[in-house]
Amino acid sequence: MAGPAPSADGSATRNPLTVLTLNELRQRSSVKWRMHPPDVLPLWVAEQDVPLAAPVADALRRAIDLGDTGYSHGTAYAEALGEFADERWGSHDFPVDHTTVVPDVMMGVVEVLRLVTDPGDAVVVCSPVYPPFYAFAGHAGRRVIEAPLGPDLRMDRAALDEAFRRARACGSRPAFLLCNPHNPTGVVHRRDELEAVADLARRHGVRVVSDEIHAPLVLPGARFTPYLTVSGAEDAFALTSASKAWNLAGLKAALAVAGPEAAADLRRMPEEVGHGPSHLGVLAHTAAFRAGGPWLDLLLDGLDANRTLLETLLAKHLPAVTHHRPEGTYLAWLDCTRLGIATEQPAGEPGVASDVAGPAKMFLDDARVALSSGHVFGTGGAGFVRLNFATSPAILTEAVTRMGRAVDARRPPVG
Ligand SMILES: Cc1ncc(COP(=O)(O)O)c(C=O)c1O
Repeated sequence: MAGPAPSADGSATRNPLTVLTLNELRQRSSVKWRMHPPDVLPLWVAEQDVPLAAPVADALRRAIDLGDTGYSHGTAYAEALGEFADERWGSHDFPVDHTTVVPDVMMGVVEVLRLVTDPGDAVVVCSPVYPPFYAFAGHAGRRVIEAPLGPDLRMDRAALDEAFRRARACGSRPAFLLCNPHNPTGVVHRRDELEAVADLARRHGVRVVSDEIHAPLVLPGARFTPYLTVSGAEDAFALTSASKAWNLAGLKAALAVAGPEAAADLRRMPEEVGHGPSHLGVLAHTAAFRAGGPWLDLLLDGLDANRTLLETLLAKHLPAVTHHRPEGTYLAWLDCTRLGIATEQPAGEPGVASDVAGPAKMFLDDARVALSSGHVFGTGGAGFVRLNFATSPAILTEAVTRMGRAVDARRPPVG
């Protein structure tokens, strides 16, 4: 049989963010590239402008060549995550036996919430946060209670305490949906912060579900702590996949992991949930965790450089816009409140992720740059935009330059 075709990225030594041209990216048919007309630079949804990592592309090609497109079997995905967690986070004794494959992280979150809460129970979130946390919990009949982040964008212990108390008062089985690391702020929670969460959750009888999809994307200077390694978190769940770090959102497969005291709950997961993930997805995510480390390191170097480039570009073109340097993810949460753009929040629940208002609408209309609108991330989001910097330095530079020009054009002429 012929060997695998050449690697998709052609090189294992190059910053993956600089491989594809804008013309090549525009040929993509995913939502990032098709939601807006071709004159718009898309820096909104969490897709990356990278080619597939070679080990992932090779695994998929091998499966296609073999016609290996049946049902998935075995624990290779969980084992690969366990090896990755051991190597990267020093997280020994990963509980392969306490895992199950779910279609994707958000479907996994919903199914785990169904296991540990009842309809009408409360789900606490730290706003502003990834918009589907509101929508998906709401669609499952759970009531969302916000514990807003503090002014430093880190979790606020007093706000959590109060939210847990309220959550307990409105139903017998509340949960806390933790975003670890946090989207949209890029904050990587420290172990002491997570221990405080575990302590509060135990005291209030709140079950913690930790979304760890951004975990491999922790940048130099910060360290990721898997929630299940925190003392007091034995009854919690974590959900993760290779989707954000290796750009595999179209290849459905994620893992739900149960702490030792949650293993019995996980066994109640309905059988049909395991029918959702695709075998090609399982193969791709397994290959990413098992052999995608060198590619990830090149990506993290590129994201670290983009994080610094973004600071320089903002200082030059948008000095009134401020942000906290993200510690992880490829998302920057930009405070545009000093631009003086009306930020009235549309009535009702935080919106769907693609709703655009306030500064994001101005940047879309006037700069032809698509960003995520802050108001859809819940309380504290209006007046902010989320910028996805998983792109080439050239696209990032062009986008922020355009944004600066759009702001300058709004200023009344002097004199
Ligand atoms: C925090 C967080 N959770 C979940 C998801 C979606 O993951 P999935 O496509 O596996 O549901 C995203 C996507 O950006 C995310 O940022």
